[in-house]
Amino acid sequence: MQKTFTILKPDSVKAGHSGAIITRLEQEGFRIRAMKMVHLTRSQAEGFYGVHKERPFFGSLVAFMTEGPVVMMVLEAESAIEKLRKLMGATDPAKADAGTIRKQFATNIERNAIHGSDSPDSAAYEISYFFNQLEMS
Ligand code: RTP
Ligand code: MG
Repeated sequence: MQKTFTILKPDSVKAGHSGAIITRLEQEGFRIRAMKMVHLTRSQAEGFYGVHKERPFFGSLVAFMTEGPVVMMVLEAESAIEKLRKLMGATDPAKADAGTIRKQFATNIERNAIHGSDSPDSAAYEISYFFNQLEMS
């Protein structure tokens, strides 16, 4: 079993899609090991997406991620990291496969509904960035 980290982004929460996305994740076989709703501060969002700080979309991404509350979760499944990235679909929903979460719920390349860790190192870093041991079942 492997753990990964996900965020239901502010567009999903605002649109009332968080329940549908959580249901989908459970239907696909993910177990929820930790979950909370947080309104990210600017410095939390900047730190979380620090790998992108030189990219032209960084300022806009941070503004988006802090515009309203998000739901964050630790998910567990076999090959959870790859499984979640596949279920999410491409960053740009116009390029996402049918049946993916982004195809169904994303608006555009920025407002794309969901985040998922992209490697074992990033999953470990992201889980520990937002959750402590007491918060994990
Ligand atoms: P994430 O990290 O949120 O799971 O998304 P990802 O791996 O599919 O995409 P990544 O390249 O890591 O980009 C992080 C987030 O930045 C926003 N973005 N905007 N305007 C743009 O061209 C652009 N490109 C990326 C998206 O919210 C993307 O998910
Ligand atoms: Mg990414």
